[in-house]
Amino acid sequence: MNKVLVTGGAGYIGSHTAIELIKKGYEVIIVDNFSNSEPSSLDRIKKITRKDVPFIFGDLKDRNVISKIFESFNDIDTVIHFAAFKAVGESVAEPLKYYNNNILSLINLLYSMKQYNVPNLIFSSSCTVYGQPDELPVTEDTPLKPASSPYGNTKKISEDIITDFINSGNYIKSIILRYFNPVGADISGDNGELPQGIPNNLLPYITQTALGIRECLNVYGNDYDTHDGTAIRDYIHVSDLANAHIDSMRYLSNKSAPFCDIFNIGTGEGYSVLDVINSINKFLDRPLPYKIVNRRPGDVEKIWADNTKAKNTLNWFPKFNLDDMTSSSLNWEKKFRGTL
Ligand code: NAD
Ligand code: WQD
Repeated sequence: MNKVLVTGGAGYIGSHTAIELIKKGYEVIIVDNFSNSEPSSLDRIKKITRKDVPFIFGDLKDRNVISKIFESFNDIDTVIHFAAFKAVGESVAEPLKYYNNNILSLINLLYSMKQYNVPNLIFSSSCTVYGQPDELPVTEDTPLKPASSPYGNTKKISEDIITDFINSGNYIKSIILRYFNPVGADISGDNGELPQGIPNNLLPYITQTALGIRECLNVYGNDYDTHDGTAIRDYIHVSDLANAHIDSMRYLSNKSAPFCDIFNIGTGEGYSVLDVINSINKFLDRPLPYKIVNRRPGDVEKIWADNTKAKNTLNWFPKFNLDDMTSSSLNWEKKFRGTL
């Protein structure tokens, strides 16, 4: 059974992936510097899995941190690399912080993987690399648009770094997963997204508004060319996304798998902001308060995935629908705030 290093494993997607890995019997080691997470995340993983996960507190910008992990756990055969900064707006204000963290961490990791003969890498990329595509849905062959933020650019550059590194000598095999919009929470309600400060993303803003922590949701624009005028995204449940990493690991262990491959991870369904509000309203005693405001600069109008390649090649199939996503997010928010 594989031994897996999960970088950024205290974060939102990393912690859900660690849970799914442990449930399926994989040995997991987590490294994180808590720059966007809290130690309590490890307690939540333990509560759900009833397992203590080996944890290393460390910053991947320091190559010694990674080397020491590979020395101490000498049979790690897969790294799932989540550790990165992800706030689009902050990346515009502080681009160097983003290039430094996201790119340097990846380069350090690749150097160390080569040095310690760690064979497999799964990398977190993003649908942000497509920008506003000319045709929908997007396949992995859809031409990429210039990144609209330094954050997006770190994902594009990271994809290129991984591909170039692999082409230079086949030291490792890698799968790049382009996540669409990860939302939702563990089915137990004991783990979910924990944004710091005022949420930028739709679902945490909605659940905080539902609980009265925020007064009203601002809906950014209702003059888009969509069925109700609000922008469309492909929301994917975080546990389905987590399982895409496990299916990718299985695929990488197949000798015929190519050295590097890219997959879209979304449901293939596009939902508008108002569709999401209508979904959560099914689980609320009173309708969610919202108002229409101007478009948010930098937002794309609509995007959703063609996920055929992931289904056919990785044998990955999303199980959760939009109502599962909104209700699990709400359940987590209520449990976390002690109102359930
Ligand atoms: P997150 O911020 O919740 O988790 C990232 C974790 O990495 C955090 O726990 C943070 O403390 C840690 N980290 C950051 N830099 C580090 C470093 N230098 N050394 C050690 N630890 C470090 O983010 P997430 O939502 O779980 O995202 C995980 C990955 O998926 C990121 O690479 C992100 O860019 C990518 N992604 C996220 C989304 C999304 O909407 N959440 C969408 C597409 C892609
Ligand atoms: C979703 C929709 C908003 C908040 C971001 C990153 C992207 C990727 C996924 C990492 C949009 C609308 C939102 C609010 C709203 N992350 N909205 N009111 O912008 O699609 O993608 O996360 O790679 O790179 O940009 O996600 O959740 O912010 O927005 O109306 O208060 O909800 O306009 O249409 P987004 P989001």
